[in-house]
Amino acid sequence: MHFLRPVAALLGAAALVSAAPIDTGAPNNNNNNHDLPDGLPYPSPSELTLIEQQAHGTLPNGSPPPVISSQGIVNLQLIAFNELFEVAFFDELVTNITEGVVGYRFSVTDDRDLVVASLKAILAQEELHAIRANNALIHFHAHPIEPCQYHFPVKDYDSAIALAATFTDVVLGTLQDTVERFALGHDFDLAREIAAVIGNEGEQQGWFRMQQGKIPSELPFLTTSDVNFAFTAIQNFIYPGSCPNIHEIPLRTFEPLEIVTKASAKSQNLTFSFEDRANETSQFWMTYINQQNTPIVEPLNIVSHTGSYIEASAIFPYDEHELNGLTIAAVTKSGGPFADANTVAKWTHAGPGLIIVD
Ligand SMILES: *[C@@H]1O[C@H](CO)[C@@H](O)[C@H](O)[C@H]1NC(C)=O
Ligand SMILES: *[C@@H]1O[C@H](CO)[C@@H](O)[C@H](O)[C@H]1NC(C)=O
Ligand SMILES: *[C@@H]1O[C@H](CO)[C@@H](O)[C@H](O)[C@H]1NC(C)=O
Repeated sequence: MHFLRPVAALLGAAALVSAAPIDTGAPNNNNNNHDLPDGLPYPSPSELTLIEQQAHGTLPNGSPPPVISSQGIVNLQLIAFNELFEVAFFDELVTNITEGVVGYRFSVTDDRDLVVASLKAILAQEELHAIRANNALIHFHAHPIEPCQYHFPVKDYDSAIALAATFTDVVLGTLQDTVERFALGHDFDLAREIAAVIGNEGEQQGWFRMQQGKIPSELPFLTTSDVNFAFTAIQNFIYPGSCPNIHEIPLRTFEPLEIVTKASAKSQNLTFSFEDRANETSQFWMTYINQQNTPIVEPLNIVSHTGSYIEASAIFPYDEHELNGLTIAAVTKSGGPFADANTVAKWTHAGPGLIIVD
C-alpha cells in the first residue's frame, strides 16, 4: 500500500532537477512569475498577525506531536506543496479582480465586494494551511517545502473559479488519503487537524460551486483520491525546474492524461490521449474512481498510436453508476479489479484525468 517510486527513478529525477537551472521554463518579467504574498513561505510575526486577521482565525497554538511516521512526513510535504500552489493561485486571482484585469470585471459592485472579501479570506486561510504544514515539517526536523513558479490556464473569472473547484475537489479527495495514511502510521494526533482543514476546503467548494450556478453540496460521500494523483496534478501548474526541493517528496509523477471530449451526464464514449514513451506495455485499461465506490474498470480501445502518442476511447458509464461530481480517470496497466484508489494509483500509467459532472 505504501509504494515509493523506485530508487533509480527517484535519483534520476533528483539529478535532473538539480542539473537544471532553477528558472528553466519560467519567463522573466512575467505577471505569473512573482513572489508569494504576505512574506510566504516564511512570514515575519507581524505578517503572520495580518494573515490571521484576514483569515478570520489563527494557526493552532498547540505543538504537533513529538514523533511522526515516515509516511506522515510525506503527507505533510504534499500538503505544503499543494497549499503553496493554492496560495499562488488565489493571490493572482484576487490581484486580477482588484486590478480590474479584462475578464475579471464585475458589473455590480456589491457582487465584486463579496467576491473579493471571500477570496481574500480563502487566500489567507490557505496561507495558514501552508505555514502550518511547513512548521510541522520543521518541527519534525524535515525540510520545509519551498514554493515553485506557477502558471494557470485561465483568463477570466469563470474559468478561474472552475479551475479552483477542480483542484479543490482533488484536494478534498486527497486529504481523505492523508488521514488514512496518518492513521496507518499511528500519527493519530494529526488526523483531527486534517479533518478541520477538510471542512474548511468543503466550505470553499460550496461557494465555488454556487459561483458556477450549481447547488453547493456535490455528493453525499465525496470522491476519494490518492496522494500520487494530487502530486501529479499540481505539477500541471508548475514551470519545470522551478521547484527548489520537489525532489525531496517521494511520490510518483504519472504521464499526463488528456480528456479530449467533454463528459456530460450520460453514458458516452470519451476520447483520451496520453504518451507511452517506454513502449513497454501492451495493454491498457481505463479506470474511474468516483465517490466512495470500488473503482470501475473499462476496456480502453486504442484509436491511434503515433510514435509514443496514443489516442484511445473508453465508455464513461455514467448511467449505470451515477457518476456525479468528481471522477478521477486513470489509464492503468492492469484490469484490476481494484479494491481502492491506492491500488489504482499503484497500477496507473497516465492520470489523473479530472471529470466533473454537475
Ligand atoms: C490573471 O490574469 C492573467 C492575465 O489575463 C492570466 O494570465 C492569469 O492566468 C490570471 N490568473 C488567475 C489565477 O486568474
Ligand atoms: C461506445 O463505443 C462502442 C464501440 O465503438 C459502441 O459499441 C458503443 O455503442 C458506444 N457507446 C455509446 C454510449 O456511445
Ligand atoms: C511504439 O509501438 C508502436 C506500436 O507497436 C509503434 O507504432 C511506435 O512506433 C513505437 N514507438 C516507439 C517510440 O518506439
